[in-house]
Amino acid sequence: MAGQPHEVTFRFLAEPTDVNFGGKVHGGMVMKWIDQAGYAAAVSWSGRYCVTVAVGGIQFVQPILIGDLVTVRCKLIRTGSSSMHFAVDVIACDLKVRQERLATSCVIVFVALDSPDGRPTPVPPWQPETEEDRRLSDYAERMSGLSKAMEQQVADFQAGSHAR
Ligand SMILES: CC(C)(COP(=O)(O)OP(=O)(O)OC[C@H]1O[C@@H](n2cnc3c(N)ncnc32)[C@H](O)[C@@H]1OP(=O)(O)O)[C@@H](O)C(=O)NCCC(=O)NCCS
Repeated sequence: MAGQPHEVTFRFLAEPTDVNFGGKVHGGMVMKWIDQAGYAAAVSWSGRYCVTVAVGGIQFVQPILIGDLVTVRCKLIRTGSSSMHFAVDVIACDLKVRQERLATSCVIVFVALDSPDGRPTPVPPWQPETEEDRRLSDYAERMSGLSKAMEQQVADFQAGSHAR
């Protein structure tokens, strides 16, 4: 493969230990898979240790069941200075009928850190090339703005709570 990979895919079976009392995969387990795939994609792109800084727009659209083939597809859609923004789709497939369905989607943002200080450090830039790339990049930028606005709301609220 030439250059850094801008897409990472994990594929595995949903196991009995992944499910909740209703027989469906825990939402927390799905988030862990998203975080792991995102981490692999971020480290592969940047060549650095990376941490998750934000997850936006997460939607649990359809449940995942034991024995489903799970595909976690993580695609780089924007780079900032130290941040990498990935669109993640989690797709479940009932192998008996070979039917795929979108289970969960979100945008996850990682930041590359330098060592030994653990401060944000520059990542290689990614340039959108196609119309679809540009659409996704704009989407990532809007999601990032919303995420930062939400972060500010939380900070304001907490400052108010602690002042009381
Ligand atoms: C990630 C971390 C190092 C960033 O530190 P910081 O001092 O806030 O650094 P900055 O303000 O320079 O932000 C770094 C990048 O994150 C981006 N960022 C910060 N908050 C964000 C948010 N809510 N949504 C999207 N991007 C965000 C900034 O835009 C910046 O991107 P850029 O360099 O591409 O412009 C720090 O917040 C941290 O350690 N967080 C905890 C991470 C963690 O424990 N994750 C879970 C386990 S992996």
